[in-house]
Amino acid sequence: MNLYLWPPQASLHAEHVDWLIGSFGLLVALLAAPVFVLCAIYLVRFRYGRKADRSRREAGNVWLETSWALIPFLLVLGFYVVSTKMFLDQQSPPADALTIDVIAQQWMWKFEHAAGQREINELHVPAGRAIRLTMTSQDVIHSLYFPALRIKQDVLPGRYTQEWFKATDTGTFPLRCAEFCGTDHSVMGGRLIVQTPADFARWQAQAGADKSLAQRGRLLFDRLGCAGCHGGNAQGQDAQVRAPPLLGLYGKPVPLADGSLVRADDQYIHDSIMLPNKQVAAGYKPIMPPFGNVLDEEQVAQLEAYIRSLGAEEDK
Ligand code: CUA
Repeated sequence: MNLYLWPPQASLHAEHVDWLIGSFGLLVALLAAPVFVLCAIYLVRFRYGRKADRSRREAGNVWLETSWALIPFLLVLGFYVVSTKMFLDQQSPPADALTIDVIAQQWMWKFEHAAGQREINELHVPAGRAIRLTMTSQDVIHSLYFPALRIKQDVLPGRYTQEWFKATDTGTFPLRCAEFCGTDHSVMGGRLIVQTPADFARWQAQAGADKSLAQRGRLLFDRLGCAGCHGGNAQGQDAQVRAPPLLGLYGKPVPLADGSLVRADDQYIHDSIMLPNKQVAAGYKPIMPPFGNVLDEEQVAQLEAYIRSLGAEEDK
């Protein structure tokens, strides 16, 4: 069976998309049909040389003309409202969504669970739980496409994009790269494995992660010597303050040296590591070396998870 021509519906969103496209297609067909049918009839009836009565010409009918313009317009406008709502829903994952980091690379998909499990070209998720994918690319533009979920989003180098879904059915569904990305683009795919929450917990235990993403980030943080400037010791009364403290930073507004204000989200933290001179925090010198050529996106994801966890500690 060709899963790509008629993929199964593995989420409520997939059902909505099919309903939208099916009913919109039907509406357009219904609106276009009278035009083509009348064209055909008149072509025959009034063709050149045919003895047809051409004397009675309608002088125009305001009600008829207004209604056939207005009614289709309102019907199509209804679809605009419905599809815009679906689009906005698709842009705003629920707050309790489980976040999984995705790193695309020629030619594979890497998935990093917050609890520490790592997968390549396979993504295990529990059914009935909102899943948010935070995605970036190690090299060129890719696009992560789940036909059964009817979602697709470009994955860009140097930027985070996201998509989210809540799978309703357990099962194994294909995932694809949907953006031409080089020689092996056509085979850059894998499997989405939706499990019951119990099976997913069993898989998590089996896949075994000795360390969570944040714990790996902590190790990396120590190895790179970040604490020399960002650690607690550097913030003492006497110590020279060289770098912004990271405790409780995540999600907070950050005043920048140029007077603007940014939120310390994933993108800000990513850029602060890779291109630290792009946005310098107010009150600090631009002395941090850029790590763009030192770290790969997987390592940045680990550092971010660690910095996120510092933010959460502050909130408790
Ligand atoms: Cu990656 Cu196409």
